[in-house]
Parts: sequence; structure tokens; C-alpha cells
Amino acid sequence: MKNKIVFATGNAGKVKEIRMIMADLGVEVLSMKEAGISIDIEEDGSTYEENALIKARAVAACTDAIVMADDSGLEVDALNKEPGVLSARYMGEDTPYSIKNGEIIKRLMGVPDEERSARFVCAIAAVLPDGRELTTRATIEGRIGYEEKGANGFGYDPIFYVPEFGKTTAELTEEEKNKVSHRGKALELMKEELKKYEDFSC
Ligand code: IMP
Repeated sequence: MKNKIVFATGNAGKVKEIRMIMADLGVEVLSMKEAGISIDIEEDGSTYEENALIKARAVAACTDAIVMADDSGLEVDALNKEPGVLSARYMGEDTPYSIKNGEIIKRLMGVPDEERSARFVCAIAAVLPDGRELTTRATIEGRIGYEEKGANGFGYDPIFYVPEFGKTTAELTEEEKNKVSHRGKALELMKEELKKYEDFSC
């Protein structure tokens, strides 16, 4: 079933993004729900790639389609690259991001601009029907701001300032963000990898 990709996520926004990026491959992109797959996956890897592969392998065991998964996080240099792979779980999974973002700003109190460097990292994993595994990784570089700004996006976007735009990623439109984001770039790289391994012309 090489003309189908199942994306191992429950997040409808991610499925929409990958659908837009993969559109020119002529493949159908399905969420786990649309593929009728409902499993709980424990992301206990220590790298983004490991976590993405854990998710992709678990779903690949349930389908003969291509399976893709992602894992991402925020690395703040002045905090020893925290929250990193634990970004979703930082201060507790259910803690509102206004509180998580406030805490990061607080921990950076007195840290000057040039030491507030940070990046979003995204790894994408794909498991092909014949068992081959591929991974790609991309980042977007920025700085942690001094207050939350912007209402778009999610998670740490309101405190992630991108100097080239003069805005946080929460102030970018969805299209602007997808073009430069860690996830958008890692998905583009995966698309190029898939083109090498699969003939999508039929
Ligand atoms: P996951 O890849 O869905 O496990 O998400 C990891 C976590 O990293 C998210 O829950 C957010 O906290 C953070 N994160 C990843 N990408 C972004 C982004 O583009 N904007 C804001 N936060 C992000």
C-alpha cells in the first residue's frame, strides 16, 4: 500500500500540515484514527529520533501502509538544552503552556540577549512496508523572549522569537511557520528521502 501514509499522531494539525507538504507525491495521508488504529504508545526514547521510531514502529505493526511519526521539542542553551525531549512533559503534561512559558522566562531572568539562544528540533521517522526505516531531522534557531507574544501556534511558540522575522513563531501565520519550522523542514527532507526509496508515479 505504497500510495498511503499513516501519520502516527492524534494531532489533527500535524496531519493537515503533512498532507499539505506531501500533496505533490500523490499519496493519501491518513491519521491513525482514519486508519482505524487506536493504540497507546509510550515515548520512552532518549532522543527525538528514537521516540519518532518507537511511534512509527508501533503503528507499522498494525498496517501495511507507509507509516510516519514525528517527535519534537525545544532546546534552551542557557538551561542545558532543557526541556528537550521532555518538552511535552515539562512541569507536567497537563500544565498550561502559559505557566511553562512563564517558568522558562523566569529561569532566564538576567540572562542577556546573546545567551538566550534556543531551537525547536524535529525528527521524522518513516517505516516502509518492507521494514526499511528512515529518519530526518531539522531545526529552527531563535531566542527566548522576555514575555509571551502572539496568539497563533501552540506550546512554546509565544516565547520563541525568530530574529529573521522580528516575531515569535506565535506571531507567524500557519503558512509562514510551516515554511521555516523544524517540522516543515524535516517533513520536506523526508519527502525527498521517500522519493528515493519509493516510486510514487503509479
Ligand atoms: P511532540 O513532538 O508532539 O511530542 O511534542 C513535543 C513538544 O515540544 C510539544 O508538546 C511542545 O511542547 C513542544 N513543541 C514542539 N514543536 C513545537 C512548536 O512548533 N511550537 C511550540 N512548541 C513546540
